[in-house]
Amino acid sequence: MSPITESIPLSPTVSYAQHGDVAVLMLNNPPVNGLGDTTRAGLHAGITRAFEDDAIAAVVIAGAGKVFCGGADIRQFNTPAATAWPASRDILALVEAAKKPVVAAIHGVALGGGLEFALGCHYRVVTADAKLGLPEVNLRLVPGGGGTQRLPRLVGVKRALEMIQTGAPVGGREAVRIGLADAVADGAEMAGAAALVTRAIEVARRAAQSAEHPVASRKDVPEGVVDFEACLAAVSPKARNAVAQKAAIRCVQAATQLPIAEGLAFERARFEELVAGNESKSLRHIFFAEREAPKFAEGKGLALRPIERVAVLGSGTMGVGIAMSYANAGIPVALIEREQAALDRGMSLIRRNYEITASKGKLKPEQIEARLALVTPTLAFEAVAEADLVVEAVFEDMAVKQAIFKQLDAACKPTAILATNTSRLDIDVIAGATSRPGDVIGLHFFSPANVMKLLEVVRGRATSADVIATCMAMAQRIQKIPVLVGVCEGFVGNRMLTPYWREAGFLLEEGASPQQVDGALTRFGMAMGPLTMADLAGMDINWATRKRLAPTRPAHLRYSRVADRICELGRFGQKTNGGYYRYEPGSRTPIPDPLIDELIADCAREAGIARREICDAEIVERTMLALVNEGARIIEEGIARRASDIDVVYVHGYGFPAWRGGPMFYAETLGLDKVLARILALRAQHGAHWEAAPLLERLVAGGAGSFDSGR
Ligand code: NAI
Repeated sequence: MSPITESIPLSPTVSYAQHGDVAVLMLNNPPVNGLGDTTRAGLHAGITRAFEDDAIAAVVIAGAGKVFCGGADIRQFNTPAATAWPASRDILALVEAAKKPVVAAIHGVALGGGLEFALGCHYRVVTADAKLGLPEVNLRLVPGGGGTQRLPRLVGVKRALEMIQTGAPVGGREAVRIGLADAVADGAEMAGAAALVTRAIEVARRAAQSAEHPVASRKDVPEGVVDFEACLAAVSPKARNAVAQKAAIRCVQAATQLPIAEGLAFERARFEELVAGNESKSLRHIFFAEREAPKFAEGKGLALRPIERVAVLGSGTMGVGIAMSYANAGIPVALIEREQAALDRGMSLIRRNYEITASKGKLKPEQIEARLALVTPTLAFEAVAEADLVVEAVFEDMAVKQAIFKQLDAACKPTAILATNTSRLDIDVIAGATSRPGDVIGLHFFSPANVMKLLEVVRGRATSADVIATCMAMAQRIQKIPVLVGVCEGFVGNRMLTPYWREAGFLLEEGASPQQVDGALTRFGMAMGPLTMADLAGMDINWATRKRLAPTRPAHLRYSRVADRICELGRFGQKTNGGYYRYEPGSRTPIPDPLIDELIADCAREAGIARREICDAEIVERTMLALVNEGARIIEEGIARRASDIDVVYVHGYGFPAWRGGPMFYAETLGLDKVLARILALRAQHGAHWEAAPLLERLVAGGAGSFDSGR
């Protein structure tokens, strides 16, 4: 038997080595060994070469790096590379017709197209900690490489349906138990990928002694009664991926009724339909946008500041959630208050939040104590001296914040990062209260801060690049998605709310009811309508802002008095049991209130507005285009670095439906030219509030289809 040979590249992403009489094909397409065009070409070439070489008895396919294969290369979806020859099915056709066994050696993950490829191999050897699954439904797709046809033939219809419909992966041992894999390479998860390949080579060599090798697609689907109509009926119409789930059920049903070739064609047709649809495109857009957002090129090569201890100032609504975010990531945090009662309230809230999580089985009792032990409550301001990062979350008042930053400047170590959680105040003015504005930054967490994934990282005029880079990295350490934004009134997310709420207020005056406005937008997909959201957030905060800005408000622009009039009644939303809606004490359920209907009608009368019937489409169009137009200005001003960052802000901070991709991507799916035409029409009808963003006009004039093109 010849020894192990040097590996040779067969394509930029696949290499070939000979281990005696076994050929080992190594996928090397970071980050997840996606089955892009060069990977498929390399696999085809490698398998062909091994089959043609008489010195080779068997083939092992393994992945370099942390995983076997994360699936299709979704970067290539809807591009020519995705459909370039060979397709995975062409490679699997070679394998299925072969006399020599092909073994998939799976560590890390085999997901989506990666598992589908492995299902087409004769054998699968797995590490115990490997994860095998078909998560396509999460991107509103069905598996498109035979997964719905081969999986039921290996694990039975019921189990296959469960895996495909939930998208949840199974572990290595479970995979062997249910017939999805053939052997666990014991200890390989500890010993590393080489140990797995060694075990896979043994399996391959043994298999090479028989003339026949198992081919999943030639197996019969195991008997078992599954009522497919009942499965379809059981899919919740509210499920975000209901369409994909139903298509997946039909595909598995096809596996039970059709010969394999027809079943594969049926599945492929469903995949093609879904992959071309806006919903799946939008989810893929957000998937990449989330990965793009944390990147900060200016920070490349800069030394990050160590963040080993954090101090949070203020144990109110936000301070509590922020402290929990650090404790959850194992980072010790001092929670500093000026009042004992507020501190006690904050600590008991933290405990209660953890207990609720534990009662759902998501946290063990000892984990509660471990996390609580990481939070040190104190009234001693001096505790900031030990912190590498201070996050200020006290009242939203410039004078208070400036006083605190002056104190921080005096008390913190020279390397500390001084952050404020302000929602709308000017970071540069806050930084001006210190002698080290380069160390000051905004970390705008969203409520509840321990739950919401979004973190707006607000870069001040003087904030230094290493402080930004450190905060972008820190955010990921505490499981947040950071989006870098610039200073302006409300930064990205809250700034866009202003025109969004403005249109909601106008629509009320023109004839819509609060429940109609909210209903139209929740049917559109928003997690919550704008008026319910205002009630939840507290209307007093915006009232204060409007009063602050009133002296500079242009007199010629229309202004709705509805929100002010509600606040003048002492109704600030849920916390006062009344806002746009009324609330039973202790309940968060909004109840329409005739008093508010009257108030709205009065405002309309006073403003001389004749009320009319308003349809859902108008509500959606006006509120969405208000977001989009403001978003375009934000991009132009450089407050956001990319349109996709704004989408991340809205999906992860404001309940915008991910399957619509965020407001800016949604506008692109409508067509930027159509969006501009509608804005111009709204301008003609409703006046100067609808001045089109110059960027939008320029893009349309240049024929661009996306906000990021030409930037
Ligand atoms: P809050 O009123 O619930 O809590 C503020 C806490 O700070 C109180 O417990 C108060 O006793 C404490 N505090 C005041 N002065 C202090 C001092 N000198 N030292 C230590 N503690 C002091 O306020 P909330 O809602 O938590 O807001 C805090 C900050 O976060 C504000 O700047 C707000 O704009 C911002 N924010 C609020 C959001 C929200 O949804 N509530 C969302 C994002 C940001």
